[in-house]
Amino acid sequence: MRKILIATEKPFAPVAIKKISKIFEKAGKEYNLVLLENYTDRNELLQAVADAEALIVRSDIVNTEVFEAAPKLKIVVRAGAGYDNVDCDAASAKNVVVMNTPGQNANAVAELAIGLAIFGLREMFSGKPGGELRGRTLGLHGFGYVARNVFRIARAFGMKVIVYTHYSKGAAAAIGLKVTKSLEQLYEKSDIVSIHVPARGEHIKSVSYEVMKHLKDGAVIVNTARKEVINEPDLIKIMEEKPNIKYMSDITPDCEKEFAAKFEGRYFFTPKKAGAQTAEANINAGVAAADQIVAFFEKGDVTYKVNG
Ligand code: 3PG
Repeated sequence: MRKILIATEKPFAPVAIKKISKIFEKAGKEYNLVLLENYTDRNELLQAVADAEALIVRSDIVNTEVFEAAPKLKIVVRAGAGYDNVDCDAASAKNVVVMNTPGQNANAVAELAIGLAIFGLREMFSGKPGGELRGRTLGLHGFGYVARNVFRIARAFGMKVIVYTHYSKGAAAAIGLKVTKSLEQLYEKSDIVSIHVPARGEHIKSVSYEVMKHLKDGAVIVNTARKEVINEPDLIKIMEEKPNIKYMSDITPDCEKEFAAKFEGRYFFTPKKAGAQTAEANINAGVAAADQIVAFFEKGDVTYKVNG
């Protein structure tokens, strides 16, 4: 029997678990789905993974320690987009395949990005006069699945949308979206910047002072990506220099205390990453993860493999 472990500190919606279970039931008697949800002690994960052949996680850290504890492990699927929580080199060293489920939770994250933009523009519903999305310029920093959903929604709000992307210029141009020549230009022209780049390579700390200094005072930065893509000391500096900039994020920065001390009313951080925390996103990403695992074991399908 193959043990398939779902290990999620932040659990899937029960309806998603039901659908995932059905996939493994249908796939045959050799699949044994085991749940480790809401765990608080990493030892629970290390014990549970000891006899697992497949692992489904969300933002849970899967590092060397986990691979060492899981001698039978063949595949890890990060049910979601960003796989910065999985040590891909450590996985490859143990011949473990790592996959993500690209696009599956993108609409949920995009809806949160728009929600954060509105929340920021409306002065966090404090009663102070705010602003509207209609007529404002939204700058998309990156143009992956989430950004494309943000674009679709923003257009319905009557926003002007521009984008800076290195890798998806063709896709943006194909739908008539203006691609700025530089990241600096994107930040300069936007009333709201929404960040949609992964925490990898050149994107790490790509939102720097050199880029943010071009922002209009009064701009709103929305970050539903990762804290690593923003240079935090630079963010603090720009918020000091431009007293009307707001920072709305689905990820609490390391410098949270400094924000609390200096920028009251100009920032919001979700208490726990909430972008993909909808029943729909859980179903989409969870079901995709289960399907990918079955396809991997039954047909050797490695379509969504992300490690070398
Ligand atoms: C992702 O990378 O897919 C999102 O950040 C969602 O992460 P989560 O599964 O921890 O909610």
